[in-house]
Amino acid sequence: MFEIIKKELERSSIFKDESKLFPDYVPEYLPHRSEQLRALARIFRVLIDRPGSVSQKALLIGPVGTGKTAVSKRFGIEFEKYAKEKGIVIRYVHVNCHKDRRLFLVMRRIASEISPAIPNRGLAPQEMMHVVKQVLDDKDWYALVALDEADYLIRYSEDEALYDLLRITEEYVEDKQRFSFILIMRDTSVLPALDASITSVLMHNIVKFEPYTSEQIHDIIEQRAELAFKEGAVSSEALKLIADIAGVDMGGPGDARYALELLWRAGKYAENESATLVTPDHVRRAKRDIHPSLRMDLVGDLTKHEKLLLLAIARALKRTQRAYVPVGVVEREYRLVCEEWGERPRRHTQVWSYVQNLKKVGIISTRISGPGYRGKTTLISFQDAPTNVIEKYVEEVLRRETGR
Ligand SMILES: Nc1ncnc2c1ncn2[C@@H]1O[C@H](COP(=O)(O)OP(=O)(O)OP(=O)(O)O)[C@@H](O)[C@H]1O
Ligand SMILES: [Mg+2]
Repeated sequence: MFEIIKKELERSSIFKDESKLFPDYVPEYLPHRSEQLRALARIFRVLIDRPGSVSQKALLIGPVGTGKTAVSKRFGIEFEKYAKEKGIVIRYVHVNCHKDRRLFLVMRRIASEISPAIPNRGLAPQEMMHVVKQVLDDKDWYALVALDEADYLIRYSEDEALYDLLRITEEYVEDKQRFSFILIMRDTSVLPALDASITSVLMHNIVKFEPYTSEQIHDIIEQRAELAFKEGAVSSEALKLIADIAGVDMGGPGDARYALELLWRAGKYAENESATLVTPDHVRRAKRDIHPSLRMDLVGDLTKHEKLLLLAIARALKRTQRAYVPVGVVEREYRLVCEEWGERPRRHTQVWSYVQNLKKVGIISTRISGPGYRGKTTLISFQDAPTNVIEKYVEEVLRRETGR
């Protein structure tokens, strides 16, 4: 009986499987990315033709939401499969360097994916790499490691973290090469920080991702709509409108993630009204409530207190109606926000490190006060999303996480 009631209560007027629109879902087929998949196959075929002969490296470059992560993951899945048919074991490991910002965290991720038996404490990154290498040697496996958002590792980790990781393979010139890498970044601005010997290899194996046009976005969201929504639940006009909002040729960002989030949110609004059709009006509302620079996964990856601080910044900016607010005002607001969410406020130095991180990930910008302020103080502002959009957004994420 419970099941019948539960099923009825959970029935959606709109969705068949909402999760098909979430950022971590990797579609089976990626429209308009065959070129990039072919390029990866060409670059890494040497691992199949002559296993162990080289440590191959590729560089995926392209702006936000152009399919770099999706293409890399799909390639990893298919390449493992193909290698297996040829009797070669290749283990694809996807590491998000924005989440695991330090070399030892990255190493720990690689180690735990390759073998859960490797102890994850008490080993320095280099030692851990050697242990992983040993496991690969023993089993005669190869690792294809994708370092997603690798620029974080160059910018914010200890010196030369990425360099150490890539160069580690050179220590085993006599042995079989067990590690190959896919580096994923938004642009090439951090590359000069790497050693020339590495950049020259990478520059030979660049795979570029261009922003999507509205026609391409249309193909992408149409395919996802079929998986996520009930048949006929999304009007073709709604899909067209999303494609036009997001397409680079129509002045949009060319960002498929933004388009998918518009689609998901429009679906949620329709569902809340118990409507059976997603209309252009739902899309317009969705557009009003999100901003391309505020990414679901980006805010989701912040720690709880970083989220609370973000909320505090939004409120302080909204209340004062100024372009910038001093960090002191933000901190007072933060304490109120903590009270509201039943959290103990962190100390000043900790809060300061949250400010630095929000700046690093590009959600806020800061500057030092000039005339009109007493003494020197740090002023905080948002890059470009409106304050009320951020406020609502973070509240929603916090509510979802805390179940309130
Ligand atoms: N060609 C495509 N076909 C189907 N879905 C796509 C395609 N390109 C991107 N997507 C989807 O759009 C979303 C964003 O793509 P992805 O995460 O791969 O972007 P990205 O280039 O890694 O962006 P970022 O630089 O922000 O990490 C994902 O949900 C992904 O599945
Ligand atoms: Mg990505």
